[in-house]
Amino acid sequence: MTGEPSVSARRGDVAVPNRVRIGADRAATPTTPRVTPEASREPRREVVFDIKDMSAYYGDSQALGWTTLEIYRHIVTAVIGPSGCGKSTFIRSLNRMNDGIPGFRVEGQVLYHGHDVYAGATNRVEVRRRIGMVFQKPNPFPKSIYDNVAWAPRNLGMRDGLDGRVERALTHAALWDEVKDRLRESALGLSGGQQQRLCIARALAIEPDVLLLDEPASALDPIATASIEDLMHTLKHRYTIVIVTHNMQQAARVADRTAFFGLDTTGAQRVGTLIEYDDTQTIFRQPRDTRTRDYVSGRFG
Ligand SMILES: Nc1ncnc2c1ncn2[C@@H]1O[C@H](COP(=O)(O)OP(=O)(O)OP(=O)(O)O)[C@@H](O)[C@H]1O
Ligand SMILES: [Mg+2]
Repeated sequence: MTGEPSVSARRGDVAVPNRVRIGADRAATPTTPRVTPEASREPRREVVFDIKDMSAYYGDSQALGWTTLEIYRHIVTAVIGPSGCGKSTFIRSLNRMNDGIPGFRVEGQVLYHGHDVYAGATNRVEVRRRIGMVFQKPNPFPKSIYDNVAWAPRNLGMRDGLDGRVERALTHAALWDEVKDRLRESALGLSGGQQQRLCIARALAIEPDVLLLDEPASALDPIATASIEDLMHTLKHRYTIVIVTHNMQQAARVADRTAFFGLDTTGAQRVGTLIEYDDTQTIFRQPRDTRTRDYVSGRFG
């Protein structure tokens, strides 16, 4: 299901995201948060990303086509689908992470709390500040544990209360107890699972609104994977989370909603497209599209 109808929220229905300020026009035209009525059993959900007819290209090659969906606040949204269907391209488009790739471009709209992420007036640094990202392979800097977490706050001039900020980020990433006595030791001495939680702490240190995770557990053993999954359940109360995963059990365990992408091979190019988007239970138990059914039952992809 895509493009569900939206209605404006009355003030008081949802918390106004007063931390959000990414565009030059923001002060002049504050945006009332929008919420979408889900199925009647669901609470009203605030829209964080409103993605409209988005396509993404690497040069002449179209990686992703005509994607329309809304991503909601304080839940986990999983992105699943076969290799090459554009999952990474999709989440990297949400915080302009692909801007440095020559020839990369996005068509359509990616609205973040009503702001066009790709509009000329939008401040790219502020987009990254609000929308953090963690990658497949843990990539700590060759610095101390403390300096890894303090890196982004220092770069952004957030020097007041830095110790508290580092402790908070490590606590939220469920790593504080394991590292509090070795903060000055190299991050490279941590296990793979600890390194990935450190990367999550590093992303959380500047208190983003959204956390994007591209297969964050695929390089980890089952125990470290379980700790990352547990973390998702805790973090979603503070952050909006979008996670790409190849692991369908993982999507079923952690995600409230799931977007299934597939490859459209009807044209000259293989283009990734959104096939179905719904509550995770529906995607796994009662998918509407046979392609989703085949994929989640392991018959395809
Ligand atoms: N930097 C790039 N330059 C050119 N083409 C790219 C680039 N990154 C991805 N692509 C192409 O875009 C398409 C989608 O790739 P993407 O990495 O988004 O898929 P994916 O679903 O994340 O795959 P995987 O599950 O293997 O990680 C592929 O055809 C890929 O070859
Ligand atoms: Mg990928």
